[in-house]
Amino acid sequence: MPLSNKNSVSARLQAMADEGRSSTRSLSHQLASADYGQLSQQLEGLTSGEKDRVANLANCAALLWQGMPAINWVGFYLLKRNTLVLGPFQGKPACTRIEVGSGVCGLAAQMLKVVIVGNVHEFPGYIACDLSSRSEIVLPLILDGRLIGLLDIDSPEIDRFDHIDQQGLERIVQVLIAQL
Ligand code: SME
Repeated sequence: MPLSNKNSVSARLQAMADEGRSSTRSLSHQLASADYGQLSQQLEGLTSGEKDRVANLANCAALLWQGMPAINWVGFYLLKRNTLVLGPFQGKPACTRIEVGSGVCGLAAQMLKVVIVGNVHEFPGYIACDLSSRSEIVLPLILDGRLIGLLDIDSPEIDRFDHIDQQGLERIVQVLIAQL
């Protein structure tokens, strides 16, 4: 390899390493990231042409279960008469009903906002379904301006979810909502 080429390759490698160092994400976290772009495309393919809500939610849960590292539960709670009722999911059996305002899910439903909890043991009123869960992210599903349910994901690792997961999952939720 000519010296100039070799230099430019090593310069690029150095730049990548510097970029990695300046990133707020640890190397292990970067390696363990989900490819949300690919997952959204796959979800679009899986759900397009299918209007059945349960079928689409079930495939979305299965896709995220397969594609997201370091998670131990992923699924949906659907709003029915002001109560969140368990929907399609992957992972251990979970609590079937959560009141709006209770736990992490109830808070996300009440605020209509994404909630990320870095350490569930420090969250007052946390509802434990799987004792191995350490962190959690919950995203509201809003269709035509109304809350219809939540996407809930648990991890056995503390601080598993950050703003990159939030942005990626918001994209997933947009694709999903368009098919519900
Ligand atoms: N931990 C949630 C309950 C649902 S499970 O994690 C599947 C909460 O506090 O709302």
